[in-house]
Amino acid sequence: SIVYLNGEFVRLGDAKISVLDRGFIFGDGIYEVVPFYRGKPFRMDGHLARLKRSLAAIRIEGAPDTQEWDALVRDLVKRSGLEDSLVYLQVTRGVAKREHGFPDNVSPTLFAMVSPFRRPGAQQRSQGMTAVGMPDERWLHCEIKSISLLGNVLAKQHATDAGADEVLQFRDGYLSEGSSSNIWVIKEGKMYAPPRSNLILEGIRYGLMEELAQETGTPFQARPITQDEVAAADELLVTSASKEVLPITQYNGKPVGSGRPGPVYAALRAAYDRAID
Ligand code: PDD
Repeated sequence: SIVYLNGEFVRLGDAKISVLDRGFIFGDGIYEVVPFYRGKPFRMDGHLARLKRSLAAIRIEGAPDTQEWDALVRDLVKRSGLEDSLVYLQVTRGVAKREHGFPDNVSPTLFAMVSPFRRPGAQQRSQGMTAVGMPDERWLHCEIKSISLLGNVLAKQHATDAGADEVLQFRDGYLSEGSSSNIWVIKEGKMYAPPRSNLILEGIRYGLMEELAQETGTPFQARPITQDEVAAADELLVTSASKEVLPITQYNGKPVGSGRPGPVYAALRAAYDRAID
Protein backbone atom coordinates (compact mmCIF):
# COMPACT_ATOMS: atom_id res chain seq x y z
CA SER A 1 0.00 0.00 0.00
CA ILE A 2 0.96 3.65 -0.51
CA VAL A 3 2.00 5.82 2.43
CA TYR A 4 3.01 9.46 2.79
CA LEU A 5 6.45 10.24 4.23
CA ASN A 6 8.01 13.72 4.35
CA GLY A 7 6.43 15.08 1.18
CA GLU A 8 6.44 11.91 -0.91
CA PHE A 9 4.06 9.06 -1.62
CA VAL A 10 5.97 5.79 -1.45
CA ARG A 11 5.23 2.09 -1.00
CA LEU A 12 4.96 1.05 2.65
CA GLY A 13 7.99 -1.21 2.31
CA ASP A 14 10.04 1.66 0.89
CA ALA A 15 9.15 4.13 3.67
CA LYS A 16 12.30 4.46 5.81
CA ILE A 17 13.31 6.86 8.58
CA SER A 18 16.47 7.37 10.62
CA VAL A 19 16.97 5.45 13.86
CA LEU A 20 17.77 8.88 15.36
CA ASP A 21 14.22 10.03 14.74
CA ARG A 22 12.96 11.43 18.06
CA GLY A 23 9.78 9.43 17.65
CA PHE A 24 11.86 6.25 17.79
CA ILE A 25 14.31 7.44 20.46
CA PHE A 26 12.01 9.39 22.82
CA GLY A 27 8.42 8.82 21.68
CA ASP A 28 8.58 12.56 20.95
CA GLY A 29 5.61 13.00 18.67
CA ILE A 30 1.85 12.99 18.26
CA TYR A 31 -0.70 11.21 16.09
CA GLU A 32 -4.27 11.07 14.85
CA VAL A 33 -6.64 8.41 13.54
CA VAL A 34 -9.26 9.70 11.08
CA PRO A 35 -12.09 7.47 9.83
CA PHE A 36 -13.31 7.56 6.22
CA TYR A 37 -16.66 6.13 5.15
CA ARG A 38 -17.27 5.34 1.50
CA GLY A 39 -14.22 7.42 0.64
CA LYS A 40 -15.39 10.46 2.64
CA PRO A 41 -13.85 11.75 5.87
CA PHE A 42 -15.95 11.78 9.04
CA ARG A 43 -15.38 14.75 11.36
CA MET A 44 -11.98 15.46 9.79
CA ASP A 45 -12.13 19.09 10.96
CA GLY A 46 -12.27 17.92 14.56
CA HIS A 47 -9.37 15.52 14.04
CA LEU A 48 -7.21 18.16 12.35
CA ALA A 49 -8.04 20.72 15.06
CA ARG A 50 -6.96 18.20 17.70
CA LEU A 51 -3.77 17.46 15.70
CA LYS A 52 -3.01 21.18 15.78
CA ARG A 53 -3.62 21.32 19.56
CA SER A 54 -1.36 18.30 20.12
CA LEU A 55 1.43 19.88 18.04
CA ALA A 56 1.10 23.17 19.94
CA ALA A 57 1.10 21.34 23.29
CA ILE A 58 4.49 19.77 22.61
CA ARG A 59 5.76 22.77 20.61
CA ILE A 60 6.44 21.08 17.28
CA GLU A 61 6.67 23.70 14.55
CA GLY A 62 6.87 23.51 10.78
CA ALA A 63 4.18 20.88 10.17
CA PRO A 64 1.59 21.39 7.40
CA ASP A 65 -1.38 23.63 8.21
CA THR A 66 -4.91 22.28 8.48
CA GLN A 67 -5.73 22.88 4.81
CA GLU A 68 -2.60 21.10 3.66
CA TRP A 69 -3.33 18.11 5.92
CA ASP A 70 -6.86 17.98 4.62
CA ALA A 71 -5.69 17.82 1.00
CA LEU A 72 -2.92 15.35 1.79
CA VAL A 73 -5.16 12.94 3.67
CA ARG A 74 -7.86 13.00 0.96
CA ASP A 75 -5.18 12.41 -1.67
CA LEU A 76 -3.81 9.42 0.24
CA VAL A 77 -7.25 7.86 0.65
CA LYS A 78 -8.00 8.39 -3.03
CA ARG A 79 -4.74 6.66 -3.98
CA SER A 80 -5.60 3.73 -1.69
CA GLY A 81 -8.88 3.13 -3.48
CA LEU A 82 -10.38 2.08 -0.12
CA GLU A 83 -14.02 2.73 0.74
CA ASP A 84 -14.10 2.51 4.54
CA SER A 85 -10.65 3.28 5.91
CA LEU A 86 -8.71 4.57 8.91
CA VAL A 87 -6.00 7.15 8.23
CA TYR A 88 -3.12 7.21 10.68
CA LEU A 89 -1.17 10.49 10.87
CA GLN A 90 2.03 10.92 12.84
CA VAL A 91 4.32 13.87 13.40
CA THR A 92 7.56 13.56 15.35
CA ARG A 93 9.99 16.31 16.27
CA GLY A 94 12.42 15.00 13.66
CA VAL A 95 15.92 13.56 13.43
CA ALA A 96 18.68 14.84 15.74
CA LYS A 97 21.61 13.74 17.89
CA ARG A 98 20.28 12.11 21.06
CA GLU A 99 19.83 14.93 23.57
CA HIS A 100 16.66 15.20 25.64
CA GLY A 101 16.01 18.92 25.12
CA PHE A 102 14.53 20.24 21.88
CA PRO A 103 17.15 20.32 19.11
CA ASP A 104 17.75 23.47 17.05
CA ASN A 105 17.09 23.51 13.32
CA VAL A 106 15.15 20.29 13.15
CA SER A 107 12.25 19.65 10.80
CA PRO A 108 9.40 17.39 11.84
CA THR A 109 8.99 13.89 10.40
CA LEU A 110 5.58 13.63 8.69
CA PHE A 111 3.97 10.26 8.14
CA ALA A 112 0.54 9.09 7.03
CA MET A 113 -0.84 5.67 6.14
CA VAL A 114 -4.28 4.30 5.44
CA SER A 115 -5.70 0.89 6.36
CA PRO A 116 -8.98 -0.85 5.59
CA PHE A 117 -11.60 -0.14 8.26
CA ARG A 118 -13.63 -3.19 9.20
CA ARG A 119 -16.51 -1.55 10.99
CA PRO A 120 -17.94 -3.26 14.09
CA GLY A 121 -20.29 -5.86 12.68
CA ALA A 122 -23.59 -7.39 13.78
CA GLN A 123 -21.89 -9.81 16.17
CA GLN A 124 -19.95 -7.11 18.05
CA ARG A 125 -22.99 -4.86 18.15
CA SER A 126 -25.24 -7.54 19.58
CA GLN A 127 -22.78 -9.25 21.94
CA GLY A 128 -20.94 -6.16 23.10
CA MET A 129 -17.47 -6.03 24.62
CA THR A 130 -16.00 -7.24 27.89
CA ALA A 131 -13.95 -4.99 30.15
CA VAL A 132 -11.97 -5.09 33.38
CA GLY A 133 -11.04 -2.24 35.72
CA MET A 134 -7.51 -1.17 36.64
CA PRO A 135 -5.68 1.82 38.11
CA ASP A 136 -4.75 4.51 35.58
CA GLU A 137 -0.96 4.50 35.70
CA ARG A 138 -0.35 6.96 32.87
CA TRP A 139 1.13 10.45 32.99
CA LEU A 140 -0.82 13.67 33.59
CA HIS A 141 -1.11 14.89 29.99
CA CYS A 142 -3.52 12.36 28.56
CA GLU A 143 -5.23 15.21 26.64
CA ILE A 144 -2.27 15.19 24.22
CA LYS A 145 -2.54 12.52 21.55
CA SER A 146 1.05 11.47 22.17
CA ILE A 147 2.76 8.55 20.43
CA SER A 148 4.31 7.74 23.85
CA LEU A 149 1.70 5.06 24.48
CA LEU A 150 3.45 2.67 26.87
CA GLY A 151 0.81 3.21 29.56
CA ASN A 152 -1.97 2.55 27.07
CA VAL A 153 -0.15 -0.49 25.65
CA LEU A 154 0.29 -2.01 29.12
CA ALA A 155 -3.35 -1.24 29.95
CA LYS A 156 -4.58 -2.97 26.80
CA GLN A 157 -2.37 -5.98 27.54
CA HIS A 158 -3.84 -6.09 31.06
CA ALA A 159 -7.25 -6.54 29.40
CA THR A 160 -5.93 -9.20 27.03
CA ASP A 161 -4.25 -11.11 29.86
CA ALA A 162 -7.55 -11.04 31.75
CA GLY A 163 -9.38 -12.39 28.69
CA ALA A 164 -11.22 -9.07 28.21
CA ASP A 165 -11.52 -6.70 25.25
CA GLU A 166 -10.87 -3.38 27.01
CA VAL A 167 -9.88 -1.85 30.35
CA LEU A 168 -11.61 0.88 32.30
CA GLN A 169 -8.92 2.95 33.98
CA PHE A 170 -9.44 4.71 37.31
CA ARG A 171 -7.37 7.61 38.58
CA ASP A 172 -7.65 8.04 42.36
CA GLY A 173 -10.89 6.05 42.28
CA TYR A 174 -12.51 7.98 39.44
CA LEU A 175 -13.12 6.72 35.91
CA SER A 176 -10.79 8.18 33.30
CA GLU A 177 -11.02 6.22 30.03
CA GLY A 178 -10.26 3.00 28.18
CA SER A 179 -6.86 2.02 26.76
CA SER A 180 -7.76 3.71 23.46
CA SER A 181 -11.35 4.83 23.91
CA ASN A 182 -13.70 7.04 25.90
CA ILE A 183 -16.22 5.49 28.31
CA TRP A 184 -19.86 6.38 28.93
CA VAL A 185 -22.04 5.36 31.88
CA ILE A 186 -25.82 5.03 31.66
CA LYS A 187 -27.95 5.07 34.82
CA GLU A 188 -31.74 5.41 34.93
CA GLY A 189 -31.91 6.76 31.38
CA LYS A 190 -29.22 9.41 31.91
CA MET A 191 -25.74 9.39 30.42
CA TYR A 192 -22.58 10.40 32.27
CA ALA A 193 -18.92 10.76 31.26
CA PRO A 194 -15.77 12.03 32.93
CA PRO A 195 -15.37 15.77 32.25
CA ARG A 196 -12.90 17.03 29.66
CA SER A 197 -9.57 17.45 31.44
CA ASN A 198 -5.88 16.62 31.23
CA LEU A 199 -6.73 13.11 32.52
CA ILE A 200 -8.44 11.91 29.34
CA LEU A 201 -8.05 12.23 25.62
CA GLU A 202 -11.10 14.12 24.43
CA GLY A 203 -12.26 11.86 21.63
CA ILE A 204 -13.70 13.37 18.50
CA ARG A 205 -16.62 11.17 19.49
CA TYR A 206 -16.91 13.02 22.83
CA GLY A 207 -18.52 16.03 21.19
CA LEU A 208 -20.38 13.75 18.78
CA MET A 209 -21.92 11.77 21.66
CA GLU A 210 -23.08 15.04 23.25
CA GLU A 211 -24.82 15.87 19.96
CA LEU A 212 -26.33 12.39 19.65
CA ALA A 213 -27.55 12.54 23.27
CA GLN A 214 -29.37 15.77 22.42
CA GLU A 215 -30.80 14.27 19.26
CA THR A 216 -32.08 11.15 21.04
CA GLY A 217 -33.37 13.03 24.09
CA THR A 218 -30.84 11.39 26.41
CA PRO A 219 -29.95 13.68 29.35
CA PHE A 220 -26.17 14.00 29.61
CA GLN A 221 -23.91 15.20 32.38
CA ALA A 222 -20.10 15.37 32.44
CA ARG A 223 -18.93 14.75 36.01
CA PRO A 224 -16.50 12.58 37.97
CA ILE A 225 -17.68 8.94 38.14
CA THR A 226 -16.71 6.55 40.94
CA GLN A 227 -15.79 2.87 40.67
CA ASP A 228 -19.02 1.96 42.49
CA GLU A 229 -21.10 3.92 39.97
CA VAL A 230 -19.41 2.09 37.11
CA ALA A 231 -20.06 -1.27 38.79
CA ALA A 232 -23.75 -0.34 39.28
CA ALA A 233 -24.32 1.07 35.76
CA ASP A 234 -27.37 0.03 33.71
CA GLU A 235 -25.25 0.31 30.55
CA LEU A 236 -21.61 1.05 29.74
CA LEU A 237 -20.54 2.33 26.33
CA VAL A 238 -17.20 2.73 24.64
CA THR A 239 -16.37 5.13 21.79
CA SER A 240 -13.43 5.58 19.44
CA ALA A 241 -12.79 6.13 15.75
CA SER A 242 -12.47 2.38 15.19
CA LYS A 243 -15.10 1.10 17.67
CA GLU A 244 -17.55 3.89 16.79
CA VAL A 245 -19.94 3.25 19.71
CA LEU A 246 -20.21 -0.21 21.27
CA PRO A 247 -21.77 -1.57 24.46
CA ILE A 248 -19.76 -3.16 27.26
CA THR A 249 -21.95 -6.04 28.35
CA GLN A 250 -19.63 -7.61 30.90
CA TYR A 251 -17.48 -5.77 33.46
CA ASN A 252 -15.10 -7.48 35.87
CA GLY A 253 -16.73 -10.80 35.00
CA LYS A 254 -20.28 -9.65 35.83
CA PRO A 255 -23.08 -8.71 33.44
CA VAL A 256 -23.63 -4.97 32.95
CA GLY A 257 -27.34 -4.37 33.63
CA SER A 258 -29.21 -7.12 31.81
CA GLY A 259 -25.97 -8.32 30.21
CA ARG A 260 -27.39 -7.37 26.81
CA PRO A 261 -26.94 -4.13 24.85
CA GLY A 262 -29.40 -1.64 26.35
CA PRO A 263 -31.94 0.82 24.99
CA VAL A 264 -29.73 3.91 25.30
CA TYR A 265 -27.03 2.13 23.34
CA ALA A 266 -29.56 1.16 20.68
CA ALA A 267 -30.75 4.76 20.30
CA LEU A 268 -27.23 6.21 20.19
CA ARG A 269 -25.99 3.51 17.80
CA ALA A 270 -28.85 4.25 15.41
CA ALA A 271 -28.07 7.97 15.64
CA TYR A 272 -24.36 7.25 15.02
CA ASP A 273 -25.20 5.25 11.89
CA ARG A 274 -27.39 8.13 10.68
CA ALA A 275 -24.58 10.64 11.37
CA ILE A 276 -22.12 8.83 9.09
CA ASP A 277 -24.71 8.29 6.36
N1 PDD B 1 -7.64 6.05 19.95
N2 PDD B 1 -8.90 7.93 24.50
C1 PDD B 1 -7.76 7.39 24.05
C2 PDD B 1 -6.65 7.14 25.02
C3 PDD B 1 -7.61 7.08 22.68
O1 PDD B 1 -6.45 6.56 22.24
C4 PDD B 1 -8.70 7.31 21.79
C5 PDD B 1 -8.61 7.01 20.32
C6 PDD B 1 -9.88 7.87 22.31
C7 PDD B 1 -11.08 8.16 21.43
O2 PDD B 1 -10.83 9.23 20.55
P1 PDD B 1 -11.59 9.33 19.14
O3 PDD B 1 -13.06 9.32 19.42
O4 PDD B 1 -11.13 10.62 18.59
O5 PDD B 1 -11.15 8.14 18.32
C8 PDD B 1 -9.94 8.17 23.66
C9 PDD B 1 -7.34 5.85 18.55
C10 PDD B 1 -8.51 5.37 17.74
C11 PDD B 1 -6.13 4.93 18.45
O6 PDD B 1 -5.23 5.13 19.26
O7 PDD B 1 -6.08 4.08 17.56
